[in-house]
Order: sequence, then C-alpha cells, then structure tokens
Amino acid sequence: MVKICCIGAGYVGGPTMAVIALKCPSVQVAVVDIAQKRIEAWNSDKLPIYEPGLDDVVKQCRGKNLFFSTEVEKHVGEADIVFVSVNTPTKTTGLGAGKAADLTYWESAARMIADVSKSSKIVVEKSTVPVKTAEAIEKILTHNSKGIKFQILSNPEFLAEGTAIQDLFNPDRVLIGGRETPEGQKAIKALKDVYAQWVPEDRILTTNLWSAELSKLAANAFLAQRISSVNAMSALCEATGANVIEVSYAVGKDTRIGPKFLNASVGFGGSCFQKDILNLVYICECNGLPEVAEYWKQVIKINDYQKNRFVNRVVASMFNTVAKKKIAILGFAFKKDTGDTRETPAIDVCKGLLGDKAELSIYDPQVTEDQIHKDLALSKFDWDHPLHLQPMSASSSTEKQVTVVGDAYEAAKDAHGLCIMTEWDEFKTLDYKKIFDNMQKPAFIFDGRNVVNVDQLREIGFIVFSIGKPLDAWLKDMPAVA
Ligand code: UDX
Ligand code: UDX
Ligand code: ADP
Repeated sequence: MVKICCIGAGYVGGPTMAVIALKCPSVQVAVVDIAQKRIEAWNSDKLPIYEPGLDDVVKQCRGKNLFFSTEVEKHVGEADIVFVSVNTPTKTTGLGAGKAADLTYWESAARMIADVSKSSKIVVEKSTVPVKTAEAIEKILTHNSKGIKFQILSNPEFLAEGTAIQDLFNPDRVLIGGRETPEGQKAIKALKDVYAQWVPEDRILTTNLWSAELSKLAANAFLAQRISSVNAMSALCEATGANVIEVSYAVGKDTRIGPKFLNASVGFGGSCFQKDILNLVYICECNGLPEVAEYWKQVIKINDYQKNRFVNRVVASMFNTVAKKKIAILGFAFKKDTGDTRETPAIDVCKGLLGDKAELSIYDPQVTEDQIHKDLALSKFDWDHPLHLQPMSASSSTEKQVTVVGDAYEAAKDAHGLCIMTEWDEFKTLDYKKIFDNMQKPAFIFDGRNVVNVDQLREIGFIVFSIGKPLDAWLKDMPAVA
C-alpha cells in the first residue's frame, strides 16, 4: 500500500488529499499539521474550511484511508510520498519585503523531513513557490539526508476555492515537474500513477522542475491579468456609456480569447493572485528584467485602482461624505462559496469607507464576525499571514464603526447605501423592494459584482451604480475622481 503524507492541512492540502483518498482506495493518506485546532476541526463534523462537496468526500474516507493528525514526524517518517502544502506568504520584513515569498515554513518542513526520514522518499511541492525553490529544498534534503535518497517533484495545484472538489475531480490538467534523470523520471511515474487512477492520461503533463514551478506563477498571473484588463475597460465603459457586460461578451466570443474570467468586479482577491504576481515581479527584478517586472506590476496597480475607484464612487455619489452614514456591506469573502477572506477586496473597500467615517453593517453568509474584525484591524501591508499581522492600536480600532449582522435585510435597515462585495447567489434574489422601503432616501446601491438587475432596482427607486455599466444621471452629476 502506497503511503502518502501531506504537511499542511489548509485550503490546498485538505481538499486535495481528501480527493486522492477517495479516488485511490489503495493509497493511505495522512494529512498533518502543527495547528492542533485545525486538525481537531478536520476530525469533527465542522470542517475548518467551507467548500461545497468537501464534507461528503471527507465523510466517505475519514478513518478508512484518510487520516488527519498532529503527529507530523511519525506520518512523514512512514510515508513514501510527502506532499508539502504549507503556507508561503509574502515577506513583510527584510530582503524582498512586500514581494518575495516567505519560505520559512517550507524550509522548516524540509529540515524536518530530512531529520525524521529513515527510508527513501518522493517530496512533492504543492504550495506555490518561487521558481528554483525545489533546488533549494533538494539541497537541504541531500545535505541532511544521512544517506537516504530524496526525489523532488513540483506538482502545483490549480484548484480554485469554491469549486475545489469539482476542479480536483475533473482537472484541466495535472502538472508534474521533476528531474530529467532516471530516478527523477521514476518519481514522476510514481506520482503520475496516483493521479492516473481518475485523471485521463492526456491531461497529466510532465515537465522539468522549473517549468512546472513557473507555469503555476504564469497561470495565476495570466488569469489575474484578464481581470485587470476587463476592470480597466470597466472604467472606460462608465466614462463613455458602454456596458462592460456587452463588451466582455463580445470580446470573449473570439475563440482566441475565450469567455471565461472576463467578469468585471470591484477587484480580484484570494490568497494567490496578488502573492504570486508579487513573487513573479520579484523574480524578474532579481534576474535583471525590470521591464517585465513593471508589466506584471501593472496588474496589481489596476486592481488597487479599481478598489479605490469603487470607494470614491460611493463617497462622491453620497454628497462627498459618508461620515456617520450607515452603509450596508453585503459579502465579505473574496468570492462566493468560500469563507476565505484573504486579500478580499471587501477589506480595502471597507477601510476606505471607514477612513471617511462611515458606519458599516456587514453581512456574509460564511465569514465569522471575529474574522471580519480581525481583517479590518490589520494594516494594509500585511498580506496574508496572520502571524505577521500587527493589529491597529486601540485608539484607531474600527470596532465601534463596524457591526456584523446575520442577514442582508438587517444590514440594510436604515442604511443610506448598500455595497455588494461578493457575488453570493442569495444577493440576486433578495426582496429589494423591502430593502428600499427600510433604507434612508435617496437609497443607493453600489454593485461591485454585477449581480443585481439594474433596471428593476432603478424602477424601485434606487440610485444604482454597477461596475462598468452606464451611469445614472445622478452619478454623472457627481463624478468620482479616482
Ligand atoms: C489582427 C486580429 O487578429 C484581427 O482579428 C483583426 O481584425 C486585425 O488584427 P492580423 O494583424 O491580420 O489580425 O494578424 P494576427 O494573426 O492577429 O497577428 C498579429 C501579429 O501578432 C502578427 O505579427 C503575429 O505574428 C503576431 N502573433 C500572433 C504573435 O506574435 N503570437 C501569437 O501567438 C499570435
Ligand atoms: C486562483 C486560480 O483560479 C487557481 O487556479 C489557483 O490554484 C489559485 O488561485 P482562487 O483564488 O481560489 O483560485 O479563485 P478564482 O476563482 O481564481 O478567483 C480569484 C479572484 O478573482 C476572486 O476574487 C474572484 O472574484 C475574482 N474574479 C474571478 C473576478 O473578479 N472576475 C472573474 O472573471 C473571475
Ligand atoms: P494554503 O491556502 O496554501 O493551503 P493555508 O494557510 O490554508 O495555505 O494552510 C497551510 C497550513 O500549513 C496551515 O494550516 C499551517 O498550520 C500548516 N503548516 C505550516 N508550517 C507547517 C509545518 N512545519 N508542519 C506542519 N504544518 C505546517
């Protein structure tokens, strides 16, 4: 029986290993983590992450061939294949701060693997890491190996949150990078055999190590770039009276471009896009390619511009002040069907409004009150790892200005404006007439995700702003300078 151990029971490690266990009954999978609470949650009825379909998969395998444990060293020691899926946040201090990936967790995991291994192992990079990390890890392992043989593979994960289980069941491709030596090829084959139990062979691509590592960064950069491109167009649409939905539909009909990932929004979020682009920018700079670095940096700049533009639009529309006005925030997660708030655009928008002294009433179906307060207490440069976060001082705390409520109607009650930050399905079917009746007048809706029916809402009486759509006369009279 092949034994797999995955270090890191997070958004990537947890779902990926659960699906491997489900699809490969003859493989024994142990997912280990140093965070005891997280492991307890994986072993309980309330899993630590919300992901449609995940509960079901875990229930089918847990205790059979899928185990969650804090006994990191024991399971690593016993495994044939060790996946490393620890967090790789952006460095916040020191060399490369704000751009380079922080590989502290990776390095300590690698040293531990070398320490506890008594038999040969395949070590698989699952977290997104800078190009050439595998080489560094290989050095740590071989210099500490006590004669044991390690093969390093890069097997980047392409799942998206909210659709992780579907993405894992039916991936566009599985990418496995390894050394071009006979031992390297043998290791690639061993991992390929695992995936081949449910993924068609022609979707399992094998490359060298660096190509696999770079492909992951490149894929995320390309996806983010499409969003920044359509978001840049959304600003032009608003200025000229075109409708970004029509423009992106027409553009996407070109088969060379394709229709996916062209939805204009208040900005992209999530733990990957910004982090991976910053990483790419850093690698380009380190390799003497400032023009290439600058090109990719623009993707993030447009994303920040889009969030600022949204805040400015809200404030400008409401007579240039939101001080002491209640504003409802619907949705806080970075996209629908997840409770994850890492780099969610809602954080920057809320902070912008709070900076203008608004009072926010926030509702999200999955994000906890505690998480929202934590996120809003962090200063901007904190990227995505809680350990590095410095809370704001008590005097600048925003808790008094923020309430978190249990449904959209309560959030909107007596509010002057309502901002939609996440495209949760339930926001499409709210009783907007009821919401309108209970709001202050004029009542504003700012849709950062293009989920509402603008014409219907205008008929009810709302003043509506929807990203990239023709503006109300009201908004034209109150131009927002970004
Ligand atoms: C383009 C558009 O494709 C077409 O839809 C529009 O109507 C007119 O402009 P054209 O300029 O004739 O058409 O050729 P196209 O095939 O788009 O190539 C443009 C340039 O891009 C060429 O120099 C081509 O060599 C280059 N190219 C294209 C690349 O370098 N890489 C590619 O992957 C594709
Ligand atoms: C992304 C990649 O899709 C995935 O392949 C990789 O493994 C990890 O990073 P994820 O961040 O989970 O996945 O979600 P994704 O669906 O890519 O959305 C990222 C952000 O872009 C979200 O905030 C989403 O709302 C936004 N987005 C996406 C848009 O604004 N418009 C779009 O058209 C698509
Ligand atoms: P991702 O989105 O990439 O899955 P997460 O932050 O959700 O990232 O998960 C990473 C997990 O890795 C965390 O639960 C963290 O506790 C765990 N982790 C980090 N370092 C180690 C380590 N040395 N040993 C075991 N687990 C680790």
